[in-house]
Amino acid sequence: MSFSTSAFAADKLTFYCSAQEDWCQLMTQEFSAATGIKVNMTRKSSGETFAQIKAESANPKGDVWWGGTGDPHLQAAEEGLTEPYVSPMRSELQDWALRQASSASDKTIGIYSGALGYGYNEELLKKNNLPVPSCWKDLLKPEYKGHVQMANPNSSGTAYTTLATMVQIFGEEEGFEFMRGLHKNINQYTKSGSAPIKAAAKGENTIGIVFMHDAVKQAVSGFPIKVVAPCEGTGYEIGSMSIINGARNMESAKKFYDWALSADAQSLALQVKAFQVPSNTGSSTSPSAPDLSTIKLIDYDFKKYGSSSERKRLLKKWDDEVYAQ
Ligand code: F6P
Repeated sequence: MSFSTSAFAADKLTFYCSAQEDWCQLMTQEFSAATGIKVNMTRKSSGETFAQIKAESANPKGDVWWGGTGDPHLQAAEEGLTEPYVSPMRSELQDWALRQASSASDKTIGIYSGALGYGYNEELLKKNNLPVPSCWKDLLKPEYKGHVQMANPNSSGTAYTTLATMVQIFGEEEGFEFMRGLHKNINQYTKSGSAPIKAAAKGENTIGIVFMHDAVKQAVSGFPIKVVAPCEGTGYEIGSMSIINGARNMESAKKFYDWALSADAQSLALQVKAFQVPSNTGSSTSPSAPDLSTIKLIDYDFKKYGSSSERKRLLKKWDDEVYAQ
Protein backbone atom coordinates (compact mmCIF):
# COMPACT_ATOMS: atom_id res chain seq x y z
CA MET A 1 0.00 0.00 0.00
CA SER A 2 1.37 3.40 -0.78
CA PHE A 3 -0.22 6.65 0.31
CA SER A 4 1.36 9.83 -0.94
CA THR A 5 2.40 12.09 1.94
CA SER A 6 0.82 15.06 0.17
CA ALA A 7 -2.62 13.43 0.44
CA PHE A 8 -2.23 13.64 4.22
CA ALA A 9 -0.48 17.00 4.13
CA ALA A 10 -3.38 18.54 2.18
CA ASP A 11 -5.62 18.07 5.21
CA LYS A 12 -3.69 20.46 7.44
CA LEU A 13 -2.76 24.13 7.42
CA THR A 14 -0.49 26.13 9.70
CA PHE A 15 -1.90 29.62 9.47
CA TYR A 16 -0.03 32.72 10.67
CA CYS A 17 -2.51 35.54 11.12
CA SER A 18 -1.71 39.24 11.69
CA ALA A 19 -5.22 40.72 11.67
CA GLN A 20 -7.42 41.08 14.78
CA GLU A 21 -7.78 37.94 16.90
CA ASP A 22 -11.57 37.66 16.34
CA TRP A 23 -11.15 37.93 12.56
CA CYS A 24 -8.32 35.34 12.61
CA GLN A 25 -10.57 32.95 14.56
CA LEU A 26 -13.47 33.43 12.17
CA MET A 27 -11.28 32.86 9.09
CA THR A 28 -9.93 29.69 10.71
CA GLN A 29 -13.39 28.28 11.49
CA GLU A 30 -14.94 29.19 8.14
CA PHE A 31 -12.06 27.86 6.06
CA SER A 32 -12.10 24.60 8.01
CA ALA A 33 -15.87 24.32 7.57
CA ALA A 34 -15.62 25.02 3.82
CA THR A 35 -12.79 22.57 3.09
CA GLY A 36 -12.47 20.10 5.96
CA ILE A 37 -8.84 21.16 6.35
CA LYS A 38 -7.64 21.22 9.95
CA VAL A 39 -6.19 24.64 10.70
CA ASN A 40 -3.65 25.51 13.36
CA MET A 41 -3.71 29.32 13.72
CA THR A 42 -1.31 31.65 15.53
CA ARG A 43 -2.06 35.38 15.82
CA LYS A 44 0.87 37.77 16.09
CA SER A 45 1.46 41.35 14.94
CA SER A 46 2.93 42.02 11.50
CA GLY A 47 6.55 42.70 12.54
CA GLU A 48 6.52 39.81 14.99
CA THR A 49 5.23 37.37 12.36
CA PHE A 50 7.88 38.57 9.91
CA ALA A 51 10.56 37.94 12.56
CA GLN A 52 9.14 34.48 13.30
CA ILE A 53 9.07 33.45 9.62
CA LYS A 54 12.64 34.68 9.24
CA ALA A 55 13.78 32.83 12.36
CA GLU A 56 12.13 29.62 11.10
CA SER A 57 13.35 29.94 7.52
CA ALA A 58 15.83 27.06 7.74
CA ASN A 59 12.97 24.81 8.86
CA PRO A 60 9.66 26.53 7.96
CA LYS A 61 6.72 25.75 10.22
CA GLY A 62 4.06 28.08 8.81
CA ASP A 63 2.21 27.63 5.50
CA VAL A 64 0.36 30.87 4.86
CA TRP A 65 0.59 34.36 6.36
CA TRP A 66 -2.67 36.29 6.07
CA GLY A 67 -3.22 39.86 7.23
CA GLY A 68 -0.99 42.51 8.65
CA THR A 69 0.43 45.55 6.93
CA GLY A 70 2.02 45.09 3.51
CA ASP A 71 5.49 46.46 4.32
CA PRO A 72 6.81 43.39 6.20
CA HIS A 73 5.16 41.11 3.59
CA LEU A 74 7.17 42.99 0.93
CA GLN A 75 10.32 42.65 3.02
CA ALA A 76 9.67 38.90 3.39
CA ALA A 77 9.27 38.64 -0.40
CA GLU A 78 12.54 40.48 -1.01
CA GLU A 79 14.35 38.24 1.48
CA GLY A 80 13.05 35.08 -0.23
CA LEU A 81 10.96 34.03 2.77
CA THR A 82 7.77 33.75 0.73
CA GLU A 83 6.76 31.93 -2.41
CA PRO A 84 5.34 33.27 -5.71
CA TYR A 85 1.75 32.25 -6.50
CA VAL A 86 -0.65 33.48 -9.17
CA SER A 87 -4.19 32.81 -7.99
CA PRO A 88 -7.09 32.23 -10.40
CA MET A 89 -9.00 34.75 -8.22
CA ARG A 90 -6.95 37.68 -9.44
CA SER A 91 -9.50 38.87 -12.00
CA GLU A 92 -11.84 39.76 -9.10
CA LEU A 93 -9.37 42.05 -7.34
CA GLN A 94 -8.85 45.81 -7.10
CA ASP A 95 -5.87 47.27 -8.97
CA TRP A 96 -4.08 48.22 -5.74
CA ALA A 97 -4.13 44.57 -4.62
CA LEU A 98 -2.55 43.47 -7.89
CA ARG A 99 0.05 46.26 -7.81
CA GLN A 100 1.17 44.90 -4.43
CA ALA A 101 1.64 41.48 -6.11
CA SER A 102 3.52 42.79 -9.11
CA SER A 103 5.89 44.84 -6.96
CA ALA A 104 6.91 41.61 -5.18
CA SER A 105 7.13 39.24 -8.18
CA ASP A 106 3.84 37.61 -7.05
CA LYS A 107 5.17 36.68 -3.60
CA THR A 108 2.43 38.63 -1.86
CA ILE A 109 -0.97 40.15 -2.68
CA GLY A 110 -3.30 42.81 -1.28
CA ILE A 111 -6.28 41.61 0.75
CA TYR A 112 -7.54 44.88 2.25
CA SER A 113 -6.67 48.53 2.59
CA GLY A 114 -7.09 51.09 5.36
CA ALA A 115 -5.96 54.58 6.36
CA LEU A 116 -3.90 55.50 9.40
CA GLY A 117 -5.19 58.06 11.87
CA TYR A 118 -6.04 58.19 15.53
CA GLY A 119 -8.96 57.96 17.87
CA TYR A 120 -9.65 59.53 21.23
CA ASN A 121 -11.93 58.86 24.17
CA GLU A 122 -14.11 61.96 24.23
CA GLU A 123 -15.15 61.47 27.86
CA LEU A 124 -11.53 61.32 29.04
CA LEU A 125 -10.63 64.28 26.86
CA LYS A 126 -13.36 66.38 28.50
CA LYS A 127 -12.59 65.11 31.99
CA ASN A 128 -8.96 66.17 31.57
CA ASN A 129 -9.90 69.51 29.96
CA LEU A 130 -7.90 68.66 26.88
CA PRO A 131 -8.39 70.33 23.48
CA VAL A 132 -9.89 68.31 20.63
CA PRO A 133 -7.00 67.24 18.33
CA SER A 134 -7.39 67.26 14.55
CA CYS A 135 -3.82 67.17 13.15
CA TRP A 136 -0.72 65.01 13.67
CA LYS A 137 1.15 68.01 15.08
CA ASP A 138 -1.58 68.58 17.69
CA LEU A 139 -0.36 65.38 19.37
CA LEU A 140 2.89 67.15 20.29
CA LYS A 141 1.12 69.62 22.63
CA PRO A 142 2.57 69.37 26.15
CA GLU A 143 -0.91 69.05 27.67
CA TYR A 144 -1.23 65.61 26.08
CA LYS A 145 1.73 64.29 28.10
CA GLY A 146 0.91 60.74 29.22
CA HIS A 147 -2.29 60.70 27.17
CA VAL A 148 -1.04 59.24 23.86
CA GLN A 149 -0.39 55.60 23.09
CA MET A 150 0.96 53.84 20.01
CA ALA A 151 2.52 50.47 19.32
CA ASN A 152 6.21 49.69 18.93
CA PRO A 153 7.09 49.81 15.19
CA ASN A 154 9.37 46.77 15.54
CA SER A 155 6.48 44.47 16.47
CA SER A 156 3.57 46.35 14.93
CA GLY A 157 2.84 47.09 11.29
CA THR A 158 0.50 49.90 12.34
CA ALA A 159 3.31 51.66 14.20
CA TYR A 160 5.80 51.11 11.36
CA THR A 161 3.22 52.65 9.00
CA THR A 162 3.06 55.60 11.43
CA LEU A 163 6.83 56.06 11.38
CA ALA A 164 7.07 55.75 7.57
CA THR A 165 4.10 58.11 7.19
CA MET A 166 5.76 60.84 9.29
CA VAL A 167 8.96 60.51 7.28
CA GLN A 168 6.96 60.84 4.06
CA ILE A 169 4.78 63.76 5.22
CA PHE A 170 7.43 65.85 6.96
CA GLY A 171 10.71 64.60 5.44
CA GLU A 172 13.15 62.40 7.36
CA GLU A 173 14.65 65.01 9.66
CA GLU A 174 11.40 66.64 10.67
CA GLY A 175 9.64 63.26 10.74
CA PHE A 176 12.07 61.99 13.37
CA GLU A 177 11.79 65.27 15.24
CA PHE A 178 8.05 64.63 15.31
CA MET A 179 8.57 61.08 16.64
CA ARG A 180 10.91 62.39 19.37
CA GLY A 181 8.37 65.05 20.33
CA LEU A 182 5.58 62.48 20.34
CA HIS A 183 7.70 60.19 22.55
CA LYS A 184 7.41 62.80 25.34
CA ASN A 185 3.62 62.33 25.36
CA ILE A 186 3.54 58.54 24.97
CA ASN A 187 2.38 56.60 28.04
CA GLN A 188 3.21 53.15 26.60
CA TYR A 189 4.40 51.45 23.40
CA THR A 190 2.23 48.36 22.98
CA LYS A 191 3.10 45.21 21.05
CA SER A 192 -0.04 45.13 18.92
CA GLY A 193 -1.14 48.00 16.69
CA SER A 194 -4.78 48.17 17.76
CA ALA A 195 -4.12 47.88 21.55
CA PRO A 196 -3.96 51.70 22.06
CA ILE A 197 -7.54 52.21 20.87
CA LYS A 198 -8.82 49.20 22.82
CA ALA A 199 -7.24 50.80 25.92
CA ALA A 200 -8.93 54.11 25.03
CA ALA A 201 -12.28 52.35 24.68
CA LYS A 202 -11.85 50.92 28.18
CA GLY A 203 -10.96 54.35 29.56
CA GLU A 204 -7.34 53.38 30.26
CA ASN A 205 -5.82 55.71 27.66
CA THR A 206 -6.98 58.95 25.99
CA ILE A 207 -5.59 59.00 22.42
CA GLY A 208 -4.54 55.96 20.36
CA ILE A 209 -2.63 56.16 17.07
CA VAL A 210 -4.14 53.35 15.00
CA PHE A 211 -5.69 52.55 11.66
CA MET A 212 -8.95 54.46 11.43
CA HIS A 213 -10.96 51.23 10.90
CA ASP A 214 -9.72 49.95 14.29
CA ALA A 215 -11.01 53.12 15.96
CA VAL A 216 -14.35 52.85 14.11
CA LYS A 217 -14.73 49.29 15.42
CA GLN A 218 -14.64 50.61 19.00
CA ALA A 219 -17.01 53.49 18.18
CA VAL A 220 -19.65 51.23 16.59
CA SER A 221 -19.28 48.84 19.54
CA GLY A 222 -20.67 51.63 21.73
CA PHE A 223 -17.49 53.07 23.27
CA PRO A 224 -17.01 56.88 23.45
CA ILE A 225 -14.38 56.94 20.70
CA LYS A 226 -14.07 59.67 18.07
CA VAL A 227 -12.06 58.97 14.92
CA VAL A 228 -9.65 61.52 13.39
CA ALA A 229 -8.26 61.75 9.84
CA PRO A 230 -5.32 64.08 10.55
CA CYS A 231 -5.34 67.44 8.75
CA GLU A 232 -1.84 67.10 7.21
CA GLY A 233 -2.94 63.95 5.35
CA THR A 234 -2.08 60.40 6.26
CA GLY A 235 -0.55 57.12 5.16
CA TYR A 236 -2.37 53.87 4.54
CA GLU A 237 -1.75 50.13 4.40
CA ILE A 238 -2.30 47.44 1.85
CA GLY A 239 -2.94 44.53 4.17
CA SER A 240 -1.38 41.49 2.51
CA MET A 241 -1.18 37.71 2.27
CA SER A 242 1.81 35.52 1.38
CA ILE A 243 2.60 31.82 1.10
CA ILE A 244 5.65 30.83 3.14
CA ASN A 245 8.63 29.52 1.19
CA GLY A 246 9.03 25.82 1.94
CA ALA A 247 5.46 25.47 3.26
CA ARG A 248 4.90 21.86 4.34
CA ASN A 249 1.24 22.01 3.35
CA MET A 250 1.53 23.81 0.05
CA GLU A 251 -1.77 22.55 -1.41
CA SER A 252 -3.68 23.69 1.68
CA ALA A 253 -1.87 27.04 1.59
CA LYS A 254 -2.99 27.61 -2.03
CA LYS A 255 -6.55 26.57 -1.20
CA PHE A 256 -6.62 29.03 1.68
CA TYR A 257 -5.10 31.76 -0.52
CA ASP A 258 -7.73 31.36 -3.27
CA TRP A 259 -10.56 31.15 -0.71
CA ALA A 260 -9.31 34.25 1.19
CA LEU A 261 -9.46 36.26 -2.04
CA SER A 262 -13.11 35.35 -2.66
CA ALA A 263 -15.91 37.86 -2.10
CA ASP A 264 -17.62 35.54 0.41
CA ALA A 265 -14.53 35.05 2.56
CA GLN A 266 -13.74 38.77 2.51
CA SER A 267 -17.32 39.66 3.43
CA LEU A 268 -16.85 37.73 6.71
CA ALA A 269 -14.95 40.81 7.93
CA LEU A 270 -18.22 42.60 8.66
CA GLN A 271 -19.24 39.90 11.16
CA VAL A 272 -16.34 40.97 13.38
CA LYS A 273 -16.63 44.70 12.59
CA ALA A 274 -13.40 44.73 10.57
CA PHE A 275 -13.95 47.81 8.41
CA GLN A 276 -10.98 47.69 6.05
CA VAL A 277 -11.64 48.13 2.32
CA PRO A 278 -11.69 44.58 0.88
CA SER A 279 -9.62 43.77 -2.21
CA ASN A 280 -12.30 41.65 -3.93
CA THR A 281 -14.50 44.06 -5.89
CA GLY A 282 -17.58 41.95 -5.12
CA SER A 283 -17.20 41.93 -1.31
CA SER A 284 -19.73 43.61 0.93
CA THR A 285 -18.73 46.86 2.58
CA SER A 286 -20.29 48.65 5.52
CA PRO A 287 -21.53 52.26 5.65
CA SER A 288 -19.52 52.50 8.90
CA ALA A 289 -16.24 51.86 7.06
CA PRO A 290 -13.99 54.92 6.64
CA ASP A 291 -14.45 56.27 3.09
CA LEU A 292 -10.89 56.45 1.76
CA SER A 293 -11.95 58.76 -1.08
CA THR A 294 -12.78 61.49 1.47
CA ILE A 295 -9.46 61.18 3.37
CA LYS A 296 -6.33 63.10 2.35
CA LEU A 297 -4.02 60.16 1.59
CA ILE A 298 -0.33 60.55 0.86
CA ASP A 299 1.21 58.71 -2.08
CA TYR A 300 2.73 56.08 0.25
CA ASP A 301 5.84 54.59 -1.34
CA PHE A 302 5.29 50.88 -0.57
CA LYS A 303 8.26 49.76 -2.65
CA LYS A 304 10.67 51.94 -0.68
CA TYR A 305 9.24 51.56 2.83
CA GLY A 306 8.63 47.83 2.35
CA SER A 307 12.21 47.26 1.22
CA SER A 308 14.42 45.29 3.56
CA SER A 309 17.15 47.93 3.81
CA GLU A 310 14.79 50.85 4.45
CA ARG A 311 12.62 49.06 7.01
CA LYS A 312 15.71 47.89 8.91
CA ARG A 313 17.30 51.34 8.74
CA LEU A 314 14.21 53.21 9.96
CA LEU A 315 13.55 50.77 12.79
CA LYS A 316 17.15 51.00 14.00
CA LYS A 317 17.05 54.79 13.82
CA TRP A 318 13.78 54.80 15.78
CA ASP A 319 15.31 52.49 18.43
CA ASP A 320 18.43 54.66 18.71
CA GLU A 321 16.96 58.15 18.44
CA VAL A 322 13.44 57.84 19.81
CA TYR A 323 12.95 54.77 22.01
CA ALA A 324 16.37 55.13 23.67
CA GLN A 325 15.33 58.55 25.00
O1 F6P B 1 -6.82 43.92 11.83
C1 F6P B 1 -6.55 45.22 12.25
C2 F6P B 1 -5.26 45.75 11.75
O2 F6P B 1 -5.18 47.09 12.07
C3 F6P B 1 -5.03 45.57 10.26
O3 F6P B 1 -5.71 46.49 9.47
C4 F6P B 1 -3.53 45.65 10.16
O4 F6P B 1 -3.06 45.09 8.97
C5 F6P B 1 -3.08 44.91 11.39
O5 F6P B 1 -4.15 45.07 12.35
C6 F6P B 1 -1.82 45.45 11.94
O6 F6P B 1 -1.57 44.92 13.19
P1 F6P B 1 -0.21 45.22 13.93
O7 F6P B 1 -0.02 46.70 13.97
O8 F6P B 1 -0.45 44.66 15.31
O9 F6P B 1 0.88 44.57 13.18
